[in-house]
Amino acid sequence: MSDLLWQKPGVEVDARIQHFLAGDDVVLDREFFLHDIRASAAHAQGLQRIGILSSGELAGLERELAQLGDDFRSGAFVLDERYEDGHSAIEARLTERLGDTGRKIHAGRSRNDQVLVATRLWLKEKLARVSSLSREIAKVALDRAQAERDLPIPGYTHVQRAVVSSAGMWWAGWAEAFIDDAVRAADTLALVDCNPLGTAAGYGVNLALDRDHTTTALGFGRMQVSPVYAQLSRGKFELAALEALGSATLDLRRIAWDLSLFTSAEFGFVALPAQYTTGSSIMPNKRNPDVIELMRATHASVAAARTEIEQLLSLPSGYHRDLQGSKGAIFHGFGRGLAALELLPALLANLEWREDRLRAAIDPGMYATDVAVEAAVAGVPFREAYRAAAAGAGPAGEGRTPEASLAARVSPGAAGDLRLDALQARWEAL
Ligand code: ARG
Repeated sequence: MSDLLWQKPGVEVDARIQHFLAGDDVVLDREFFLHDIRASAAHAQGLQRIGILSSGELAGLERELAQLGDDFRSGAFVLDERYEDGHSAIEARLTERLGDTGRKIHAGRSRNDQVLVATRLWLKEKLARVSSLSREIAKVALDRAQAERDLPIPGYTHVQRAVVSSAGMWWAGWAEAFIDDAVRAADTLALVDCNPLGTAAGYGVNLALDRDHTTTALGFGRMQVSPVYAQLSRGKFELAALEALGSATLDLRRIAWDLSLFTSAEFGFVALPAQYTTGSSIMPNKRNPDVIELMRATHASVAAARTEIEQLLSLPSGYHRDLQGSKGAIFHGFGRGLAALELLPALLANLEWREDRLRAAIDPGMYATDVAVEAAVAGVPFREAYRAAAAGAGPAGEGRTPEASLAARVSPGAAGDLRLDALQARWEAL
């Protein structure tokens, strides 16, 4: 870290203190750097529109910002410990290339402004990804629900055999879950889709900044009006975004659990393509479902990120350096969560049911509920019908078939009336 932009004469910089303050900033800011560059260009345009920069100066800044973006992408420019953070690196580079014009870009903005707008753009991108992946996952589940609607599988409660279920019901459950996850991510995207740029360090600035222009130029849905709220929303929006991601990774965790159980020798209901399993280094007989297990584990990182930010937010209003810690949390949470969600559509598309094992796991007792409800329909008070069915659970099921049980399950949403068209319509509307 050679030159600190804010350094004052006579105050010596302590390397260890600076190192501590910077934390992982230059590394983390790589994640947000291109967004910072994009927002810097919009800020420069805004300055030109209110007469702080000439058209020539703006052209120079836009050219150098674009060049910096290219150099960063190609690796010709590396954001490293020569810089305090990504924000000062941009200013340093512009100053090196353009002299005084470069120094002008920081008029009317703060690094707090920069980090807010860059992370806001980043969060929008990630939420769009959560939404589109959830939509993709829901589609696989919806298609398989249709294709395998009549395939009987055992239905469990408490990990005990309970009633006859179907692959159609299992898939429809995940379809509806991920439709909701897509909706939630999109709703959260709409919540955070507001432009904090131009709020300076949280109290505005004595310039009539063209915030409408930067809002449009950066593709935000609205301007975040209050500078005080812009600071208050840092962390709060991150938390909302992680919550939306967590909806999807929680559903993923539960699918992974099902698949872990269903692929075990004890159940043996599902076979996975070989690439989803790994061998054991010590037990030659093993194929382990490591992919599923690591997918299941990712929710832990999302939950950890949420907790970290929630704890950071125990702050008065205004900017505090504590907030810097929220960057690592979102990077880690979204990094892990999205990587797992990305693998899910193909995994779901490729898993195979082992029909013989499924059928063998359906025992006569699993018709007891059907027997009790049928008696209730015939006029026997349900509690009596329940007791009678419990007493004769085994024999009562004799002669019944899973197919007939499923066909008779006509309560809306159940196997006999899956209502996939309703789910399909919601999916189309995403
Ligand atoms: N690295 C800081 C953050 O992520 C942004 C820079 C603001 N630094 C400062 N000393 N005001 O919050």
